Amino acid sequence: ERLPLVGDAIKKVNTALEKNIELEKYTAMAALAMLAEMKADGIRGVYITSGYRTYEKQSSLWYTYIEKESNAHPDWSSSRIEQEVLTYSARPGTSEHQSGLCIDFITGEMTELVNYGSETKNNPYDIGFAETAAFEWLSRNAYKFGFILRYPESKEGITEYNYESWHYRFVGQAAAAEMHETGECFEEYLNRIS
Ligand code: DAL
Ligand code: ZN
Repeated sequence: ERLPLVGDAIKKVNTALEKNIELEKYTAMAALAMLAEMKADGIRGVYITSGYRTYEKQSSLWYTYIEKESNAHPDWSSSRIEQEVLTYSARPGTSEHQSGLCIDFITGEMTELVNYGSETKNNPYDIGFAETAAFEWLSRNAYKFGFILRYPESKEGITEYNYESWHYRFVGQAAAAEMHETGECFEEYLNRIS
């Protein structure tokens, strides 16, 4: 099923990439403020590479990954393939990108585009998002703008997704500050307050 859009206004965000990034309007406002502050702190070359996704967009990503894993593991069953893809991609209809509340960042520093988050075994010299100044800045400051690192490295067992150093979700300043303080991931926070 589709996630409802939060609010009705989706704002276009100028990210200097040749891409048409859209976000829920308060998310867009907070993201622009955050990007401006990063820039003021001397961090350059940070772009949003993914924001609001339609069902069709998520579906096309999902089937691209299914095909990629099928080619890489011709002996795997289709459910094993799905299980693998589900560690890093949401099924169409269940991605938080479809709400317009999530952002994926990319920077000019990065040389690692296969596994944004951390070193792959293949090339330890590649720079993933987790190794950039932007990531370090976000770790200290994202909560002030109402954003959280949605899929932290130490919470894979709870979020059920691999660590994604580049993926941030807007939750508002109060909730983000609480999670920053307690170290909870979003699932833990929701469980506690509900
Ligand atoms: N990569 C995240 C989990 C998504 O597909 O929404
Ligand atoms: Zn993402």
